[in-house]
Order: sequence, then structure tokens, then C-alpha cells
Amino acid sequence: MREPIRHSPLAAATAALTLFLLLLPSAKCGVTYDRKAIIINGQRRILISGSIHYPRSTPEMWEGLVQKAKDGGLDVIQTYVFWNGHEPSPGKYNFEGRYDLVRFIRTVQRAGLYLHLRIGPYICGEWNFGGFPVWLKYVPGISFRTDNEPFKNAMQGFTQKIVEMMKRESLFESQGGPIILSQIENEYGPEGKAFGPAGHAYVNWAANMAVGMDTGVPWVMCKEDDAPDPVINACNGFYCDAFIPNKPYKPMMWTEAWSGWFTEFGGTVHQRPVEDLAFAVARFIQKGGSFINYYMYHGGTNFGRTAGGPFITTSYDYDAPIDEFGSIREPKHGHLKELHRAIKLCENALVSADPTVLSLGPYQQAHIFNYQTGGCAAFLANYNPKSYATVLFNNLHYNLPPWSISILPDCRNVIFNTAKVGVQTSQMQMLGSSNEQLLWERYDEEIASMADNSLLTTTGLLEQINVTRDTSDYLWYITSVDVNSNERFLSGGQPPVIIIQSAGHALHVFVNGQLSGSAYGSKENRRITYNGNVNLHGGSNRIALLSVAVGLPNVGTHFESWNTGVLGPVVLHGLDDGKRDLTWQQWSYQVGLKGESMNLNSLEGTSSVEWMQGDFAGQAQQPLTWFRAYFDAPGGQEPLALDMRSMGKGQIWINGQSIGRYWTVYANGDCRGCSYTGTYRSPKCQTGCGEPTQRWYHVPRSWLQPSRNLLVIFEELGGDATKISLVKQSVSGVCADVSEWHPTIRNWHLDSYGKPEEFRRPKVHLHCSPGQFISAIKFASFGTPYGACGSFLQGACHSPNSHTTLEKKCIGQERCEVAITPSNFGGDPCPNVMKKIAVEAVCSPATQPLQ
Ligand code: GAL
Repeated sequence: MREPIRHSPLAAATAALTLFLLLLPSAKCGVTYDRKAIIINGQRRILISGSIHYPRSTPEMWEGLVQKAKDGGLDVIQTYVFWNGHEPSPGKYNFEGRYDLVRFIRTVQRAGLYLHLRIGPYICGEWNFGGFPVWLKYVPGISFRTDNEPFKNAMQGFTQKIVEMMKRESLFESQGGPIILSQIENEYGPEGKAFGPAGHAYVNWAANMAVGMDTGVPWVMCKEDDAPDPVINACNGFYCDAFIPNKPYKPMMWTEAWSGWFTEFGGTVHQRPVEDLAFAVARFIQKGGSFINYYMYHGGTNFGRTAGGPFITTSYDYDAPIDEFGSIREPKHGHLKELHRAIKLCENALVSADPTVLSLGPYQQAHIFNYQTGGCAAFLANYNPKSYATVLFNNLHYNLPPWSISILPDCRNVIFNTAKVGVQTSQMQMLGSSNEQLLWERYDEEIASMADNSLLTTTGLLEQINVTRDTSDYLWYITSVDVNSNERFLSGGQPPVIIIQSAGHALHVFVNGQLSGSAYGSKENRRITYNGNVNLHGGSNRIALLSVAVGLPNVGTHFESWNTGVLGPVVLHGLDDGKRDLTWQQWSYQVGLKGESMNLNSLEGTSSVEWMQGDFAGQAQQPLTWFRAYFDAPGGQEPLALDMRSMGKGQIWINGQSIGRYWTVYANGDCRGCSYTGTYRSPKCQTGCGEPTQRWYHVPRSWLQPSRNLLVIFEELGGDATKISLVKQSVSGVCADVSEWHPTIRNWHLDSYGKPEEFRRPKVHLHCSPGQFISAIKFASFGTPYGACGSFLQGACHSPNSHTTLEKKCIGQERCEVAITPSNFGGDPCPNVMKKIAVEAVCSPATQPLQ
């Protein structure tokens, strides 16, 4: 007889626990969601995310960028996947260098952050052709982003390729990896409506296709109200507090909180005040939002010909918390970091309770999160863009600046206000990196022999991308015009005029080898009408039109079908028999420049021609010139850039790597003032009016060798290369502007432990970059100073000891802090008046003597 099995109490408890865990599988592992939040391993989370696009920096920069994002209080890094970078020709994949997606994700993983993978594969993103490879346009029968079999096959193929790669590397959270969310499509909502039933069918197909890939983590569609279950629809915009998910059981997610805006050649640089960005985020969170992603957290650089457009600049700085060069931008980074800490102190309340909304005045509200275990967090908002408000909440008075939200993690103490910036402002400068003049050589692009070996000759004008397939920005359109030697203009009459219609984006007109003139599309209208005199002689004349693309469109209904290049008509006016239409005569085409075909920009190709040397080689005032110089890498760690102010338009390469397109076209816009209050839109805070839209071009340090780096420039218009300089970016000065009763997170724990008031006094914190020190105090005032960093002024109340106090504590230090307390300044200069301190300090390299 067998012994009966005896159950010990321990075994029974273990079995019960196992059963319990089995009954809760979805809640305990992987990533799910409910109406409140994304749930990771059974826990609802308030997630702060930021976009860093891996090809917009170098792999050598990734670790530092991700660390700075982590220091800024981020939990998640969000990136698009860049199809045209990964599959430059059908079936030929590239996952190397800047396109090493797995390495990027592993960098994020090592930092202990999560990742949101936006596969698209349509990504918009101011990226060439919205991320689509140009070859995709030439797949027979294809129609993009709609219910079209060839497109769906290609889209599924690429999505699958990426998902399988991620699975193989165990990168989804469900496999123990960092990817907690994926995205399919991008902002299809408005597009889908225009496509009607086909759009609807496509979005359902896309959702099913993605969900069928079984990643174990949720899929998101941004700006797509019809996102089918279980896909979460998310909001993009400058504000998203009015957004409501399409089902009550989905969380409120904000996939693109625009931290600034992108730049276009010919336009100004856009900034978004951090007070307004913080206000927008706090508004979203107080409404119950639980996921926010800054687009961009680091914008970076559109290296090579990756910029979309047309006319998107090479810089994709975006006024992001980490600037293009990878340096922290203050006060943006620091103020948001404090916001994130304040939000995180409320996390339990935010994920557990729904807000109760209380009116505190005509423009004032409280959002209160009371939860069962007795906790409470509150957000006090003043939407009035013009004036302060004093509100009564829980029997206490709170003073709220205009257009701001105060955060109270215990429903009592304000630890953060979106409009009160306590962190320092850093002023950046671009300084010459060496006194050594570059030695320039020159090679003039050869245009004489062009038509002889041109690619093709045909009747009429061809669309540019159909011919180039985007292998180059440049396409030559060449034709000839016979002029009778009896024409009146040849004996002193009015010269003929040529009128050329081009679909964009830039055009240089050559007649008999001489530049006649140029014309450019603009961000408002990419089309060009060229109208200019032509210098013809009797007999055969050669007209050569160099059409230049400046980035393919990345957004707009059926943007893939938008034309580029000289489509005509091309008409000569002013000949004796009236006008002569050249549109339908014989045209020859040459794709790209001669110099490009000889790889003059590369280490291997650069010696294939004779370069002109000598004193004036760098100063060609003529168009279509190649410049070459060699330089040694400057010492130090500071980011590097080329100052291209003296040049016109073209491209830059270093050691064969393309830095990108440059164009010093002057910025047109309205740079009058910028207030953080009131609804932000991108035209609001413009800078750089009347200056070149982009003057500095990022040179990644990792592209340099210690000596003899090859710098090649192709200049379309003519410019003075001798004035190009390699500059280093560094902090030139720091400012702080903090009031006595500034809410401060740093002292939050002291508060809770009831330390004396003195401990709660906020401090001024100043810090230069590593390797620098504070060499001078330009301005200091404890009292009622006013103005902004760079232009502070003393107010009616001013402590005469301000300067010496700051000097004593800060000079010679890399960083210093000074408590805002009268005892630090030898007494109170104006009792019973609310005081502040404003400081501007100079940062100098450690090698430089004190000023
Ligand atoms: C969004 C788009 C992004 C980017 C952004 C503007 O609409 O989803 O990819 O283009 O606008 O920077």
C-alpha cells in the first residue's frame, strides 16, 4: 500500500501562492495597460520619456546623451526607426555605425532606462522622404500609406524585420529587455480621413499586422483617433491636456510634447520657454495623463542628406534640453528635471486616484488626487496669462504666477512651480579652436564637357527624382539654343530674357559656361520662377540648368508624388520672332556633379585631380567650386563645429563623412520679444532674424583622427573659404535668478522632517563646465533686481555686499552655492520686502589666469 501524501503547512502555502501568481499572469509580467497608466510588471507607472534619434548623433555620443537624459529624470528613451537608413537599396540592409539600432537600444538598457520603439515605418520626423526609401516609390503599382498590396507587403516586411531583430536580441520587456512600447504608423489620423474607406481599411490592417507580431508589449498609434483595440491612440502637440483616449480603458499618453521646433533654411530659430513647456506637462499630468515624451530631448544633426523638407536645416537642435552638440541646455534641462522629481513624488497618488477638480477662481483650479491609503497630491493652476493670483486651498493661501501650476505632493507644501525657474541659465559660446590658418586648395567643378557623356538625352523636361533616384542633390538639365547672327540684340538691343519654371528647390542657370543667376524656393513655396537676362551669342549657345534638391518632403498627403526639378515651361523672350519655348526640345541630363562621381570628398578619391594651390585658392568668388584643406584635431573634449558664415550654399565632408548641407541664407521672421505666458505656437519665440539660419555645423569628435583630417567643401555660389573656422563650443557664463521663497525640491525631505525655516531657504547654484572655473562675477544683486541673464539691473532694494559675497564663495570654483539668506549678505537690505538674488558669472577654461 502506498503511503498517503502528507501536505506540510509550508507546502500548502507555497502551492496557494503559486496558484495565486498563476491567476495573475498578465498583471505580473510584461507590459500591459489600463485606463490609468502603462503597467510594467504589475505596477502602474507615470513615465517620463524623451526622443533621441540614433542616426542624429554618433554611437560615441549615445552613452553620454542617454546618461544626461537619465540625469534629467527620464524613464524612457523614444526613437523612430529609420527605414531609408537601414535599407538603402531593396534587400541590402545597414545596421552599422549610426544605424546600429541594437547597440543604441543596449546603451539605453545599460543605463537602466526603458525604450519606446516607433517603427513607423512612416516616421515624418523632418527626415528625408519621411523615412521611406526612395526606391519604394518605384515599386510597380505602389501607393503609400493606404490599402495597397505592394505598399502593405513592403511595410509588413520591414516591420517584421525589425520586430524579429528585437526578439532575437531579447529586447522586448516581455523577454527581459528595455522595449516597453512600440509604434506603428505615425499621425495617420488626418491622412486616413483624406483617404476615406481605403484609409480606414489600411489602419485596421496596420493594427492587426502589428499586434499579430506578438511582441508582448503594447502598440501605440499617435494622432489616430480610430486606432483599433488593443492599440493605444496617443496625442502629439504643444499641449495635450484636452486629449481623451478613444476608449475608456486606455491610458492618456502624450507621444510628442514638442520641446521647441525644427528649423528651415531661410527661417528663424524657434525656442519654447521652459516655463511654458513645464506648464503644459503639468497640465497634462493633472488631467490624469501618465506618459509624456519630449519630442525632442536631444534633436541632434541631420548628417549627410538625411534632412527632410524641403529646406530642413542640417541642425535638428529643436531647442531641446540637450542641445545639438550634446551639451546640457540650461535652464531647460534642469527645470524639467525638477518638474519630473515633483511629479514622481506624486506618483502613488497619480496612479491610484482620479483627480477631483475644484474651482479656486475665474482662471484658477485645483486638481486633487486623494487616495485610499490616506495620501494626497494637488496641482494648483493659474491659467491667467497676465496676472498673479492668490488662491485659498485647504485653508492656506498660495500665490500663483501667471500661466503656471504649483505642485503639492502632500496637498500642503509647494515644492515646484512651473514658472519659477530656480536652476541656472548657461550661455554658450563658439570659440576659435586654433590660431592656425587652414591651407586651402581649390578645384573648379568641370562643366565644359558635361553634355558629351551625359546620362540620357530626351525630348522635354524630366522630373528630377525620377532621374536621380535621390543619389545626389544635383541634376543638370542641358540644352542648346541657336541664335541667328542677325538678331537685333546682338547689335546693341535689349538682351533676351529666360523664364524658367521649376518645381524646386534651388536653381543655378548657366549660359555658355557662365553663371547667369540663381533662384530658390522657400519654405512657404518650394516652386521657383527664374526670370533673368541671358548672355547669348550668334550661333549655338549652351544652356545648362543645375537643379538642386534640398531634402525630400516628409509630410503631406501623397508627398511621395510631389515633383522636384525643372518641369517647365522654359521660355526665351526677346528674340526677333518673339518668344521661343525650349520646353519640348532636346534636353540632356547629368546626375550629380563631376566631383561627386570622382569621390573628391573621400580619402581615396581626393587625389584623383590636381588641386589648385596658393594664396588665393581659398577665395574663389566663382560658383561650383571644391575646396580642400587638412587640419589636426583640436585638443580637449568640447564639441566642435565649423563656422560657415563666409560661405554660400553647398555640402561639407570630413574624412569622407558627410557633415551635411550648409546654406547661409538669412533668416526671415519676427523676432520681437518672447513671453512664456499665453498659448505657445511655433511662430512665437523666434530668434536669429537677419542672421544666417544656420551658421555652425557640428563636427563629431569621433570622426576625427589626431592629425591630417581631410576637410572638403563643395560650394555652389562662391565664398571665402579662408574665413571658415573650426570652433569649440563652451559655456561662457552662467546666470541665476532665484527668489527667497522659491519652492525647492532639494529641501523637500528637510521640510517633511520639520527642520527649522533657515534650512528651507533656497540656494543659488552656479556651475561651469568640467575643466572650467568661475573667473568673474559680472553682476550680483541681493534685493529686488530685474531683467534677464546678460542684462540684469539693480532694483530699488540692493545689498551693497552682493558682489563680494558672491565673489568670496564662487571665484576660482567650478561650482558654488550661496543660500539666499540675509545673514550671507551682512543683513537684510529691505525687511518685509520679498527679495531675490540675480547673478551673472563668467566661466573660463582652467588654463586661463584669473581676470
Ligand atoms: C509631428 C511628427 C513628427 C515631427 C513633428 C514636428 O507631427 O509626428 O515626426 O515631424 O511633427 O517636428
